[in-house]
Amino acid sequence: MPGFEIIGEEEKQEILDVLSRKMLFRYEFHEQRNGIYKVEEFEREFAGYCGARHALAVSSGTAALRVALAALGVGPGDEVITQGFTFVATWETVLDAGAVPVFTEIDDTFCMDPLDLEKKITPRTKAILPVHMCGGQARIKEITDIAAKHGIPVLEDTAQSCGGRFNGKGLGTFGKAGTFSFDAVKTLTTGEGGMIITDDEALYVRASEYHDHGHDHNPNLPRGLEKRNFIGVNYRMMELQGALGLAQLRKLDTVILANQKKNKARIKEALSRIDKVSFRNIPDPGGDTATFIIFSLPTSEMAKGFNRAMTEEGAGAVYWYANYWHYYDEWEHLLGGRSVLQSGYPFKDPSGKDRCRFEKGVLPRTADLLSRALTIPINIHMEQQIPQILKAIEKAARTL
Ligand SMILES: Cc1ncc(COP(=O)(O)O)c(C=O)c1O
Repeated sequence: MPGFEIIGEEEKQEILDVLSRKMLFRYEFHEQRNGIYKVEEFEREFAGYCGARHALAVSSGTAALRVALAALGVGPGDEVITQGFTFVATWETVLDAGAVPVFTEIDDTFCMDPLDLEKKITPRTKAILPVHMCGGQARIKEITDIAAKHGIPVLEDTAQSCGGRFNGKGLGTFGKAGTFSFDAVKTLTTGEGGMIITDDEALYVRASEYHDHGHDHNPNLPRGLEKRNFIGVNYRMMELQGALGLAQLRKLDTVILANQKKNKARIKEALSRIDKVSFRNIPDPGGDTATFIIFSLPTSEMAKGFNRAMTEEGAGAVYWYANYWHYYDEWEHLLGGRSVLQSGYPFKDPSGKDRCRFEKGVLPRTADLLSRALTIPINIHMEQQIPQILKAIEKAARTL
């Protein structure tokens, strides 16, 4: 998963380029910057890498979601369908937009179940927000087909699958827009940072204006004289992040993904020898970013026992079923309708009436899949770790 493992001379050089010009801001100061526009260059290269027409860099993956939702016109009265296994940011931003998140089950891809998606579409559904979880792909073709049938835009949360493809096409380019995170533990990192990609010029322009206080970015006017079409906020990326992004992007396929794929294959090979183990479905294994390996056992007791044995060998796996940040049933602040505001908004309206309410235990298939699954994060450098993981797997296999 982590691009930070390979921070080296390339990143240092890019950063020095920025510091030597004392230019941290992405806009304006055309004379002083001497042709150096790191964020803009990162956007251009990232769009090209994904195969999208436009890319807008922002301050985080959360910001990318928030800005994309605004640009899609999502607001109060709307519903946005996402999945019950994702990072909290996916639905926090929906609530922040004033809309209500609706959660689907996941299927054997550990991403949105298209059959459940179809059941959850209502006249209020304003966007569909599938998440390409843990380095793999959602059933994106089925999801976009259903969305097209109902005329609803798809926003792909690709925070965890940067560099992933489905049948050769970049993840994030299947729907109306895709978002990415470059936070400190992501495949490509800029410390904090994010990106929105889209082929839709009007959506790109709205996103670009919204993320920068509404600036209309008129190339013929100095920044201080630009006009505003609507209000916005500040979710801008800074030049230092753009510089890091450029260096990391140039190593994404050749170093990061290539090593992860090799490491994942070694671990998968050892797990494949255990009959009771089955693997998460990756719809296109060739386009997997290999940031995680998810495998399942027939029962949750077996999964827990297997993980206990792995932990004893110093190589415990991630058990998402008990994870506070990624699984619906553990989002107690969402289930409890807890808001920082005394009024209870966005869970309540000003009269105290519920705007939305979330019940525990309503996603039984997600619960079953997560309770039986274990996940091993894959790193770029695992020379020391792999022998220990293989030994732990061998020991854990004896518990079955
Ligand atoms: C699926 C998903 N969406 C959004 C985000 C938010 O990204 P960031 O941490 O850059 O705000 C994350 C971060 O982990 C994520 O995993």
